[in-house]
Amino acid sequence: MRILFIGGTGIISTASSELAVARGHELFLLNRGRHGVTIPGAQSIIADLHDEAATAAALAGRTWDAVVNFLAFTPADIERDLRLFRGRTAHYVFISSASAYQRPLAHYLVTESTPLVNPFWDYSRAKIACEDRVLRALREEAFPATIVRPSLTFGDTQIPLAVNSWLRSYTAVDRLRRGVPVIIPGDGSSLWTITHNSDFAVGLVGLLGHQQAIGHAFHISSDEVLTWNQCYEAVAAAAGVAAPKFVHIASDFIAACLPDAIGSLIGDKSTSIVLDNSKIKRFVPEFGAKIRFRDGVARTVAWFDADPARRLIDDEANANWDRLLSAYESGLAAARLVFGR
Ligand SMILES: NC(=O)c1ccc[n+]([C@@H]2O[C@H](COP(=O)([O-])OP(=O)(O)OC[C@H]3O[C@@H](n4cnc5c(N)ncnc54)[C@H](OP(=O)(O)O)[C@@H]3O)[C@@H](O)[C@H]2O)c1
Repeated sequence: MRILFIGGTGIISTASSELAVARGHELFLLNRGRHGVTIPGAQSIIADLHDEAATAAALAGRTWDAVVNFLAFTPADIERDLRLFRGRTAHYVFISSASAYQRPLAHYLVTESTPLVNPFWDYSRAKIACEDRVLRALREEAFPATIVRPSLTFGDTQIPLAVNSWLRSYTAVDRLRRGVPVIIPGDGSSLWTITHNSDFAVGLVGLLGHQQAIGHAFHISSDEVLTWNQCYEAVAAAAGVAAPKFVHIASDFIAACLPDAIGSLIGDKSTSIVLDNSKIKRFVPEFGAKIRFRDGVARTVAWFDADPARRLIDDEANANWDRLLSAYESGLAAARLVFGR
């Protein structure tokens, strides 16, 4: 197939690009060429997606068997994609997010028919609005769309934790290695799943050009359900820290101190959630996540360790967590006084 990925060199998409090439597809990647990632065998189209005229010019005259947009976040982005790809692609995949699923969850087991409602996170509400626009295009003009909802997904370049910096994710490992406390939301016993991008890739690439997938939504995740405590312990083990300092703080307390965390925690990671992957397995029988989190994250930490230039630290996040920890310790001390302990 002749496939276009918009993005294609990011945290999730890099592995999908590699797999699409390995499967012999003719793959084009549209991005700005800034990520410093090369995908051997893929052809590059350099354009800034936010410059629609330049993107349209770069894509002029081309048609596709499948287009995947990893970079749509608002209904306006979907409108632009409809202008760019209407009549030009046999299949369009919108990358949504599993954070679009109901929060708080009414039932812990999530299928693709779990309601999409997230009052806590603008990002998720915007993804839901994108899905609505994609489905309207499907209904009104038979736009051949599929929706894919990744859950928390990582690769070599991302250390995924509930309380960490997203852009400089080595920061949590640096704290662990310095013996500084790292924050776990709640009591760490809530259930979560973290998926390796190479596993996600098998599901996504398997859907491309799949005629029965048109009009359907899928999440694609690992079946390895862990507690947050287990996820943090795996990261500490990968970092070679035998006695990590973890501090458990209720998500409400974290959100009261750091309102930016409301979406990502209350609207996402502090919910116990189990994703039922039956649907993607039915449509793409070769899908089945193979990488355990402890093995994937060991590879990630090794990637950071291989080059000091990769080990960027988020000073602002560090300062915020230190203030949060100090507020929490003062609260604990005050509580001990009140209760005479
Ligand atoms: N990771 C997760 O856990 C997770 C979970 C749920 C949903 N998602 C969804 O997954 C998608 C992110 O995919 P990803 O992780 O592969 O992306 P990413 O790591 O954010 O990388 C962004 C990609 O897009 C390109 N890009 C950025 N701005 C651009 C622009 N203005 N014009 C053209 N290209 C641009 C980048 O290359 P250049 O910088 O070279 O342009 C790169 O290829 C998002 O839609 C997100 O909502 C992610």
